[in-house]
Parts: sequence; structure tokens; C-alpha cells
Amino acid sequence: MTSVLVLNGPNLNLLGTRQPEVYGRTTLPMIETQCRAHADSLGLALDFMQSNHEGVLIDTIHAARGVQDGLILNAGALTHTSVAIRDALSSVELPVVEVHLSNIHAREPFRHVSHIAPIALGQICGFGPQSYILALDALNGHLKSGI
Ligand code: DQA
Repeated sequence: MTSVLVLNGPNLNLLGTRQPEVYGRTTLPMIETQCRAHADSLGLALDFMQSNHEGVLIDTIHAARGVQDGLILNAGALTHTSVAIRDALSSVELPVVEVHLSNIHAREPFRHVSHIAPIALGQICGFGPQSYILALDALNGHLKSGI
């Protein structure tokens, strides 16, 4: 079975109460439930995790090699700062779709830079929790039909 890891970075555990005017009121467990239901409908096995720690995220990316077929990553603020996460993704050579709830390009200039985007299949942002569902569809399409 095709297997996908959805990985979430710092502060995303606070979704639901964190700046709801920016991120909405949907919690991360609710997003996980939506992802699991959609993955089921696509015939994908899904792992889902969150960490506030860059090193844990990097260890998790390393451990995905040979286990997962692809990654969906919301690295939170580490998107804009972490060359180490980008290097980890390049090292494991797994296809990755970058996701964000908010439209990072419509926000502060420091959020316009993504270290992940240049090595990702693509970036989906601005659709709230639906960004994750769109990312699952995109990754599934890539894994199953090469697009
Ligand atoms: C975010 C956007 C980032 O700029 C921010 O630091 C986050 C959340 C998003 O999903 O919109 O933590 O990744």
C-alpha cells in the first residue's frame, strides 16, 4: 500500500486557539481526522505527526526513508529559516508537497521565502485545512500516475 507521512512543525499543535483570524478554529486533531478519511478514500496509508523541535522533525524525515512513499510537510516557521530541514528532505529523496494553512505570500515579507519550495514537488497554501486535502490529492496523483 502506498504510504504517506503528514509532518507538522512548531506551534501547529496550537491550531484552534492560535490566531484564529489567521489560522481558523480547526484543531490539528481535526485536520488529522480529515486527512485520514481522505487518505482512506484514496487507498493511502497515512502517518501523521507534529513536533515543535527541529531535530525531531529531521529525525522523522530520516526515518521516513524506505518506509514512506512521500511526505506532506507544514514546517510552520521553520519553512522560512531551516536549511537543515531542506537538507534532510534532499537527503532522503522522497517526494514532498509543502503545505500551509495561510497564504504565506499574502503575509509579512519574511514568510514569502520558503527553503522547502525549491526542492518540493509543489507548494499549496492559503486554503486552511483544505490545503492538506489538496496536498494529499497532489501527492497521490504524483505517486500513482507520475504527475
Ligand atoms: C504556516 C505559515 C508559517 O508562516 C507560520 O510560521 C506557521 C503556519 C501556515 O500553515 O500557514 O506556523 O506554516
